[in-house]
Amino acid sequence: MAHKKILVTSALPYANGHIHLGHIAGAYLPADIYVRYQRLRGRKVLYVGGSDEYGVPITLTALKEGITPKEVIDRYHNANAEAFQRLGISYDIYGRTSWDLHTDTTQSFFKNLYNKKFIFEHEMELWYSTKTNRFLPDRYVKGQCPRCGYEDANGDECEKCGAQYTAKELVNPRTNIPGDTSTPILKTSLHWFLDLPQFKEQLLQWIETHPEWRSNVRGIALSWINDLRPRCITRDTDWGVPIPLDHPEAKNKRIYVWFDAPIGYVSNTRQWGIDKYNDPNAWEDWWENDDTRLIHFIGKDNIPFHAVIFPAMLMGQDNFILADNVVGNEYLNIFNRRTGKSEKGSKSKGNMIRVSWAIDKLGTNPIRYYICSIMPENKDSDFDWDEFRNHYNGELCDIVGNFIHRTLTMVMKNFDGKIPQPGSMDEIDNAMLEAIASIKESVAESIEAFRFRLAQEHWVDLARKANVYFDSKQPWTTRKTDIERTGTTLYICAQVVKALAILMNPFIPDGSANLCSIINQEIKQQGPEGGDDIWEDIGELLPVGFSLNEPRVLFPKLEPEFIEQLAEEHEKGLAS
Ligand code: 2FM
Ligand code: ZN
Repeated sequence: MAHKKILVTSALPYANGHIHLGHIAGAYLPADIYVRYQRLRGRKVLYVGGSDEYGVPITLTALKEGITPKEVIDRYHNANAEAFQRLGISYDIYGRTSWDLHTDTTQSFFKNLYNKKFIFEHEMELWYSTKTNRFLPDRYVKGQCPRCGYEDANGDECEKCGAQYTAKELVNPRTNIPGDTSTPILKTSLHWFLDLPQFKEQLLQWIETHPEWRSNVRGIALSWINDLRPRCITRDTDWGVPIPLDHPEAKNKRIYVWFDAPIGYVSNTRQWGIDKYNDPNAWEDWWENDDTRLIHFIGKDNIPFHAVIFPAMLMGQDNFILADNVVGNEYLNIFNRRTGKSEKGSKSKGNMIRVSWAIDKLGTNPIRYYICSIMPENKDSDFDWDEFRNHYNGELCDIVGNFIHRTLTMVMKNFDGKIPQPGSMDEIDNAMLEAIASIKESVAESIEAFRFRLAQEHWVDLARKANVYFDSKQPWTTRKTDIERTGTTLYICAQVVKALAILMNPFIPDGSANLCSIINQEIKQQGPEGGDDIWEDIGELLPVGFSLNEPRVLFPKLEPEFIEQLAEEHEKGLAS
């Protein structure tokens, strides 16, 4: 495979709340596993993320709490950046859409599209509050859904049935501004629209070149493209990127958050190049270089923006590459033990699990391991504490941790902590060594295919096979009768331990680092410039006589009572 550059993005979460495990399962852990793996391969990979800091939910939070939008975004940007860092989500940059460079980048996108006549003006009738003298964009107005009758529908879309409609279709509108009980009226306002239908053919052709995409992403993209309409990309608000047009109607309006947010991937890359190389043009080598593979990791609600709208915006510029894949995960729901039913995570229900809470209680290995094992790759899955216990205790502790521990303690006790000299090998020994190489391939293939659950199952399976091997060779018995045979067994087991240290690295980097410190291995940190193919070292054998350190338990078992206590705190809403 040609070693192209790989540019990876994870959806920019709104700086309007704490990130929770549902987010992690959707767009962050899969991206991080992918990026860590590519770095191990020595490939040139850049991982870009950041906060999405505009949009109505943020100004509404500010209004409700009596603080400024800037205070809202500072609070959540900092908290989320820290939570990602603690969980080991290894961004090369975690930027902000409130940065000046982002304003500049967004305005340049807008102007370019405008000059090429991909953006046009159009008057709309929108809801307006005569009490506060302002238009009521998006969630500033609530009412009854014109399609399903849901009472709490937003200005132009219904969260219940997913319908999108024009504002004036909303039935019985009311303002959502605290203290404003006036009845909204309709008033015209000039806005700017992205003329998506002009990109229809190009979008179709592009999607056709990617039959390998997940069917959910292709399906949603195609159904959008077949019903493509112009989209309003401005709003009546003062919180957002200013519209770069010299037009009296533009002054009190801003660019819509969903126009500027994905441009954040570009502006954050620009900032990264400046921070790292002091080079304002370094980003071009990633975004305007046909040798780059651009891969977006997102949750399914973001599919239309990444597989249709942002690509159209890129097509309307000059020279930008398009995504090579859009990896959209389904949702991680919460299993409610009281009702026995799975439910959506929601702020109001308080059933979400905040990342920082989970790390405080559990550390990173159990969280990353469990979330990967239930990653909603093809369909929704459930976070369930009983399953958490089964996966973590039953697999990572009992299979992986146990194999590593029994091997290392026997090497320590019987061979003074040094890799023993093997004697002659039989078929079973050879098969065990060969399994390392074949599982290394299977893990790699699964990661390249964005099948992270399967990839993790493969390396756990290596440990499972190694336990069977260990049991069949009974080194605890042979050590009394045949020390050479014991040496052969433990020589082979130690090689599996070493392979596991690298194999688990993209998935549970802390576990891998701890294991490496015991077996005196160092996994070199490699960055966007690429480096050595460390993944290939998985098959390289530890030499006879190589010294290991005193083993310690890597994955301590969690007591069922402790897990129960966490489940109860979660049920009481204390985890959100
Ligand atoms: O759904 C969300 O949380 C959005 N803030 C995602 C934006 S992704 C990208 F476009 F920035
Ligand atoms: Zn509805």
